[in-house]
Amino acid sequence: MKTKLHIAIPLLVLAACAPMPGMASTPSPTIAIIESPRVAPTLAQSLRGAAFDRKILIGAGGANPDPLRTDPAYGQTMAREFSALTPGNAMKFGPIHPAPDTYDFRDADAFVDFAQANAMQVRGHTLVWHDEQPKWLEQGTFTRDQLLAIMRDHIATVVGRYRGRIYAWDVVNEAINDDGTMRESFWYKTIGPDYIDQAFRFAHEADPNAKLIYNDYAAEGSGTKSDAVYAMVKGMKERGVPIDGVGLQSHFTITPPRLADIDANIKRLSALGLDVHITELDVRLRLPADAAALAQQASVYRDYLRMCLANSNCRMFVLWGFTDKYSWIPGKFPGFGAGLIFDEQYDPKPAYYAMMDVLNGK
Ligand code: G3I
Repeated sequence: MKTKLHIAIPLLVLAACAPMPGMASTPSPTIAIIESPRVAPTLAQSLRGAAFDRKILIGAGGANPDPLRTDPAYGQTMAREFSALTPGNAMKFGPIHPAPDTYDFRDADAFVDFAQANAMQVRGHTLVWHDEQPKWLEQGTFTRDQLLAIMRDHIATVVGRYRGRIYAWDVVNEAINDDGTMRESFWYKTIGPDYIDQAFRFAHEADPNAKLIYNDYAAEGSGTKSDAVYAMVKGMKERGVPIDGVGLQSHFTITPPRLADIDANIKRLSALGLDVHITELDVRLRLPADAAALAQQASVYRDYLRMCLANSNCRMFVLWGFTDKYSWIPGKFPGFGAGLIFDEQYDPKPAYYAMMDVLNGK
């Protein structure tokens, strides 16, 4: 019989956060303080409590700064159930570095402070990507050396600001096309294919202790893109580039990639000495979602978490959002939604209970 471990987890939610960009100068609404429970969640009372004993970080990704200030249940649920968070947009190049000599850290600071106040780890997302870039960067004309200097300054400034406070950085995001070729972003076209190595080296200079991750989608199981990611990170390891792992975004439907293929992929990455983070899991359903679809969704969450737990190099299991109330899915996939583990009223769905069962060894 597994002994129940009582863990004291401070669940103090920040009383107030830095004013949001574009908000009036009056202080943002106070987020309700959660009394830190005298008897903290047992293994059976929260995902993070159950995950603690299994030595895996359970994360809420796609974290949104607006409800963190306007919807008390958002911060309370996040702090109670998750041991990690990933800001959805606050740390992307455009929002955090909107003009050549201007950085806006307000949202990112709020998340890092919130995480620290609630004993949560932070995944920084993302330093170098083809999307969410500011106009001054995307429309600028730079030489290779000029753009390398811009990249180095950006990474030194952003990673340096949070040195020691970020568990892992998605250093480069989505650099490979679905057909396995290199995405010819402006980073690639101006600097060349070594922009990826350079980004990781700059990030390591700025915070030698942060885990440095390459993050991508549709590379979870077998296939051309997965093989291309494997080949790329294998080469990086052989060149001595400071890379610690691969992020498998895992934006699924109820017919995900074959688990055996994902398991094999995680194992071959482990053989390279690399960690795997599940970084952006959601399982979108055609709406309206009926009980059968919710049960199928729960099976996907259960089987995927069980497979991650079976691989010691699968260190993080992060969802992209956690409540259907705030999800990117309906906007991106019209007719689909309900992809997460809490419904729009923050009630746990079958997928939540399925994850709890797996974490509690059932
Ligand atoms: O914050 C501005 C707001 O001020 C403005 O009024 C509004 C309308 O223009 O835009 C708001 O910014 C939007 C931002 O989300 C915050 O809502 C951006 O336009 C919009 O492009 C951005 O979309 C995000 C998308 O990445 C692109 O950055 C999604 O929220 C986010 O969920 C999505 O996440 C990505 C990961 O970063 C990488 N993996 C795939 C995943 C899903 O696409």
